[in-house]
Amino acid sequence: MRVAVLNGPNLNLLGIREPEIYGTTTLAEIEARLEEVGAELGVTLLFSQFNDEGRMLDAIHNCRGVVTAALVNAGAWTHTSLAIRDAFTAVSLPYVEVHLSNIYAREPERRHSWLAPGAMGIIAGFGADGYELALRGLVRALGGAPSGAR
Ligand code: DQA
Repeated sequence: MRVAVLNGPNLNLLGIREPEIYGTTTLAEIEARLEEVGAELGVTLLFSQFNDEGRMLDAIHNCRGVVTAALVNAGAWTHTSLAIRDAFTAVSLPYVEVHLSNIYAREPERRHSWLAPGAMGIIAGFGADGYELALRGLVRALGGAPSGAR
């Protein structure tokens, strides 16, 4: 099974960005940990991060026929972009929504997610560990990762 790990704007700055909210783990460290978990689960991961929404939409379109599902932290686009949810729907790509912080316990403008209605599930509030939890949940929900499966 192949899974895309898509990160949105400003997440390239994890580690130095508002560490009291997002922690001190860098995106590279999150991806390295996911590689370990992916190896354990027999899942190949394709990582990308975007500060340009159009490029993120293109990346979702390009997932068609390439990956089985995605983990996505759309950052602030979570709260603004119906287009990202539409892109997942357009290519019939299941996804799990991830946030480091608990967006529902933050400012009012962060308490709505345009992605949530289409998500398999949501993990929020567990910091960097949320990505691993989301991957494990996604793989389990899809019935594991039999060898040779896409
Ligand atoms: C975030 C939460 C968003 O509100 C914020 O804009 C981010 C990060 C999170 O992971 O907690 O960029 O998605």
